[in-house]
Amino acid sequence: SLLVPSVQELAKQPIIEVPERYVHPNQDPPILCNTTFPQVPVIDLHKLLCEDATEIKNLDCACKEWGFFQLINHGVDPSVVESMKIGVLQFFNLPIEEKQRFWQTAEDMQGFGQLFVVSEEQKLEWADMFYVNTFPLHSRNPRLIPNIPQPFRDNLEKYCLELKKLCLRIIGLMTKALEIKTNELLDFFEDPHQGMRMNYYPPSPQPERVSGINPHSDAGGLTILLQVNEVEGLQIRNGGKWIPVKPLSNAFVINVGDMLELLTNGTYRSIEHRGIVNSEKERISIATFHRPQMDRVISPVPSLVTPERPELFKTIRVADYFNGFLKQELQGKSHMDVIRIQNE
Ligand code: SIN
Ligand code: FE2
Repeated sequence: SLLVPSVQELAKQPIIEVPERYVHPNQDPPILCNTTFPQVPVIDLHKLLCEDATEIKNLDCACKEWGFFQLINHGVDPSVVESMKIGVLQFFNLPIEEKQRFWQTAEDMQGFGQLFVVSEEQKLEWADMFYVNTFPLHSRNPRLIPNIPQPFRDNLEKYCLELKKLCLRIIGLMTKALEIKTNELLDFFEDPHQGMRMNYYPPSPQPERVSGINPHSDAGGLTILLQVNEVEGLQIRNGGKWIPVKPLSNAFVINVGDMLELLTNGTYRSIEHRGIVNSEKERISIATFHRPQMDRVISPVPSLVTPERPELFKTIRVADYFNGFLKQELQGKSHMDVIRIQNE
């Protein structure tokens, strides 16, 4: 991908107008949270683990109708989550000279910078991000995690392990909700690929003209998002509207990605979402993505393909889908068209 300057640095300048390269014309206006919006469902992991039938049903409905839910009582060590919040803030606040050592290179998407930048002409996002692969170990870039300052580095190692376990638990519970054989889904996530995307959205002098992260669906399987400083900005498309996801303390926002939509033959849905920014306060989030490893081949699981519901998606190699996704600008759910079977 192409290399870009730091938006965090740009936003420190006394600018009153956003540079042209960051102006997105014609985007749906930002809407701020108010009580008239329906809210993303809240699911209680503790209840799910007690096999509370109502909560399993709620999980099923959330994944079918929303593709998103907030997870409470998630069991991840609160001290690890708190240290992650502090660590990521300090990391983004390092002097630019120190962050430059972690900057993306033309060869690798990992590092500080932006993703999905495929031409010099395209509009950029109003955000810096830091992306690292965490599992499998061979997918890590040796220039990155080993150079992250302590204690953030050790805490990041704890966090990514905890989230991998949480992902497995959720996938296991989804197989219960779907009433399919546990291994049909779990087999793809037992030793998953995991990547972590830390986002820093500075305040903008013209928030309605910029895009924090363009509308997209996540390419992978399951995303676990931490809204670090509880500033609002994530919105999901539901019934033709953009619904804000209110930050909820002690919760993760969980969403279904394209590959989980494919595996469940469209039963669980990968939903378009975007990130907006404001003029007052920076926003920080950490998205952790889980998907089957690159060399795996995936198709809708047998129990979810029936005469009444034939296969909706093609068989694909994870690497092909993911690499294709990275080569394009983010554009809603358009990438899923390449895997959808067109029935007349
Ligand atoms: C993402 O969609 O990857 C990030 C969303 C967010 O920052 O809330
Ligand atoms: Fe996303």
